[in-house]
Amino acid sequence: MKMYNPFSLDGKTILVTGASSGIGRAIAIECSKMGATIIMTARNEERLNETLSLMFNQTTHKFILADLSNEKDIVNIVESIANKLDGIVQCAGFTIPKPFQFLSKENIHDVMGVNFEAPVLLTQLLLKKKKIANPSSVVFISSISGVLCSYIAGSIYSASKGAINGIVKSLAIELAAKGIRVNSVNPGMINTNILESGIITEEQLQEDMKKYPLKRYGNPEEVAHAVIYLLSDASGWVTGSNLVIDGGYTLL
Ligand SMILES: NC(=O)c1ccc[n+]([C@@H]2O[C@H](COP(=O)([O-])OP(=O)(O)OC[C@H]3O[C@@H](n4cnc5c(N)ncnc54)[C@H](OP(=O)(O)O)[C@@H]3O)[C@@H](O)[C@H]2O)c1
Repeated sequence: MKMYNPFSLDGKTILVTGASSGIGRAIAIECSKMGATIIMTARNEERLNETLSLMFNQTTHKFILADLSNEKDIVNIVESIANKLDGIVQCAGFTIPKPFQFLSKENIHDVMGVNFEAPVLLTQLLLKKKKIANPSSVVFISSISGVLCSYIAGSIYSASKGAINGIVKSLAIELAAKGIRVNSVNPGMINTNILESGIITEEQLQEDMKKYPLKRYGNPEEVAHAVIYLLSDASGWVTGSNLVIDGGYTLL
């Protein structure tokens, strides 16, 4: 007899965008350990191969190279998916840190394009082409920024994440009849490469971490574990929710 595990992803096929680094990589790896077959996407082939090399049951997964700012690549992702998806994790995202008054039209277009338009278009196309199973689960990686708080030079990033949370609410209602659940995960600061880039000093980091009641930043795996919950049958009655994972940051 198999051990009881309502969080298992055994037999589920899951698409993960932004799987070449940081949170998306951790999601792909952790979901593979929970038994899922993963289809990954991002632009950087070398880093996608690195993710693949860290996954459980490597031969069962695959990746599709795609630039999400290019609509043709989004169409190609959908066409490359043969079987119905039991889960979709929309994790790809980036920011252009700039004070509001210096934001160009192009900056707005670029950030909204990858963080908001692309996940919306991808989900829409997957639905139209009947590539999403019933039941299934769609998870958007949003942020606390733009939902519960923000920061200097983060206006367009915050806007893109606020927009995602808005879509989650409406989409969850529209897709409920099909048995498709839609949720977002809203992390606070997570230890990823961005932090190792040297823009912020170690002292600044230590000072910033003090603002978190749990006195540290989160780890990508801690976001991945929340995503596993939302993808699994354990969250079968959860839809339209925005799950905050921030070490208590937004409590203060
Ligand atoms: N790190 C945090 O503190 C934090 C907090 C809250 C929310 N988030 C959100 O979590 C998600 C992942 O962030 P992260 O920290 O893990 O960032 P990351 O390490 O920079 O990873 C970003 C991922 O998005 C992909 N991506 C970016 N632009 C793309 C494009 N045009 N086309 C296709 N893929 C693209 C990148 O792949 P390629 O470069 O290979 O294309 C990469 O896999 C983002 O949505 C971010 O907003 C992060």
